[in-house]
Amino acid sequence: MNDAPLDHAAELARTREFFAVRAADWEVRFPDDGPRYEAAVAELGLHPGQAVLDAGCGTGRALPALRRTVGLDGTVLGLDLTPEMLQQAARAGRAAVAALVVGDCGQLPVRTAALDAVFAAGLIAHLPEPAANLAELARVTRPGGRLALFHPIGRAALAARHGRRITPEDLRAEPNLRPLLAGAGWRLERYVDEDSRFLALAVRVG
Ligand SMILES: C[S@@+](CC[C@H](N)C(=O)[O-])C[C@H]1O[C@@H](n2cnc3c(N)ncnc32)[C@H](O)[C@@H]1O
Repeated sequence: MNDAPLDHAAELARTREFFAVRAADWEVRFPDDGPRYEAAVAELGLHPGQAVLDAGCGTGRALPALRRTVGLDGTVLGLDLTPEMLQQAARAGRAAVAALVVGDCGQLPVRTAALDAVFAAGLIAHLPEPAANLAELARVTRPGGRLALFHPIGRAALAARHGRRITPEDLRAEPNLRPLLAGAGWRLERYVDEDSRFLALAVRVG
């Protein structure tokens, strides 16, 4: 018997559980990150009227900046696996700037090539199947559209915060991330890993 789907479901459930208990004070812990999210959103080069997904949007910290860049005629979708995170997003008034949807990045309720860009902050390390999930993000993005994988702290600083060191196997290390993205339909165009931020900017090919 093939029990892979069960493992996958169990992993998603674990992730949901992990974030559900952290949702209430998610933004209280790092209140000064706002400008870093603004700067990362700006790197997507979005224009008024365009459509963007915040994948794993959490409490929706990036949603106001995304709305400002695409304007009232644009489309902003905030999708997250954890309902408690989206409840906090709604409490913070972010349902006024984006459609908030509970869902899994591995199976997006979005038409093929419907989006101009995907923003994903702090997401990739939590994905059970990074290659397949990045391919799903590529599916919903038009050719030439962009993906920003962002974190408001660099890899080494984040590892140190958790009492660890980064290892060469780290998914987000450039030599690992570049081929992973390429295999999923993305070309890595920019890679920044400094104490104050991690940003990998990729373009949809094909
Ligand atoms: C580290 S938090 C980042 C939240 C938000 N982007 C931010 O920067 O504040 C990761 C988020 O990804 C969500 N997530 C994890 N796996 C997911 C998946 N497969 N599909 C959708 N969301 C997922 C979690 O529920 C969590 O809210």
